[in-house]
Amino acid sequence: MNAQAENKKIIFSGVQPTGVITLGNYLGAIKNWTKLQDDYNCLFCVVDMHSITVRQDPALLRKRARDLLTMYIAAGLDPEKNIMYYQSHVSAHAELSWILNCFTYMGELSRMTQFKEKSAKNGANINSGLFTYPVLMAADILLYQTDLVPVGHDQKQHLELAREIGTRFNNIYGDVFTIPEPYIAKVGAKIMSLQEPTKKMSKSDENPNGYISLLDDINVIKNKIKRAVTDSDREVTYSEHKPGVKNLIDIYACITGESIESCVDRFTGKGYGELKLEVAEAVVEELRPVQERFKDLQKNKDYIDQIVKKNGETANYLATKTLRKVQKKVGFPVRIR
Ligand code: TYM
Repeated sequence: MNAQAENKKIIFSGVQPTGVITLGNYLGAIKNWTKLQDDYNCLFCVVDMHSITVRQDPALLRKRARDLLTMYIAAGLDPEKNIMYYQSHVSAHAELSWILNCFTYMGELSRMTQFKEKSAKNGANINSGLFTYPVLMAADILLYQTDLVPVGHDQKQHLELAREIGTRFNNIYGDVFTIPEPYIAKVGAKIMSLQEPTKKMSKSDENPNGYISLLDDINVIKNKIKRAVTDSDREVTYSEHKPGVKNLIDIYACITGESIESCVDRFTGKGYGELKLEVAEAVVEELRPVQERFKDLQKNKDYIDQIVKKNGETANYLATKTLRKVQKKVGFPVRIR
């Protein structure tokens, strides 16, 4: 990436290497990234530091981080065009996060829905990392002078806080940070659980039938969609009162790029069985080539290693530029070279 030369706007986004990578992650985030990669200078991070707010098995976390980076490429992100790297390889994330912690209020963090949800789930381990998680996320974004952050709907509140923290800092020290805008697609920003369609599809769902993993076997994907919870009615309509059916139509629209209206027309008069079959077919056709590329890439250790190294260095270079500026502004002694 050559941000200065090309003068394109900057995109930053990331996924946690926690659990499997779901169809929700793909449709809400990664698939949109592939559409934006030509028009922006993009950084796509594997946010492994965020993952340890919940206990992780070290070997598994390392494997999942690598699989996720490999999946970014398999999903169509070009490593020549985008900076794809591990968050833990760029220490500026942690350093800026500390500084921004000092510009974030306890009250703001207490209001975060995700903190409330996660601490309710992990009663035995409500650590301060879980609490200050959104500050690290703000640091991720602000470090790169990001203009746009493509995410699913569940990250909206965190993004608003990142804007708030950046603006607060700028108001004290001058224009240090670019204030980022969220990019939340109209369709696909909230893919719901296949088993409980009023809840979002989540990689931490205890019931694997609730989510589709990008690496699920093709027959498993078909079966999960076949078993998706709908309702006792028979008619396909797109409504909040039919969350299961709505979710299936959303998935179909998001994958095919067809408008919701056109999808509704297509399925009107057809039964739920047919709807599920067509959705399953669309999902399988979308994921089959991604899975094939993923398996090929996995065999190519040197290629991935070289991307990790090169992109990590570029990210370090860009992040350090902002970090030094911030350190100077807050009054840390200048480094003697
Ligand atoms: P994470 O890892 O939970 O999810 C990664 C991305 O997937 C989106 N997503 C969904 N979209 C639609 N439907 C769903 N069911 C669904 N589930 C997840 C998320 O909105 C997200 O875009 N805190 C972030 C990671 C992060 C980050 C960042 C993102 C850390 N630093 C800086 C953007 C910028 C998270 O936990 O995402």
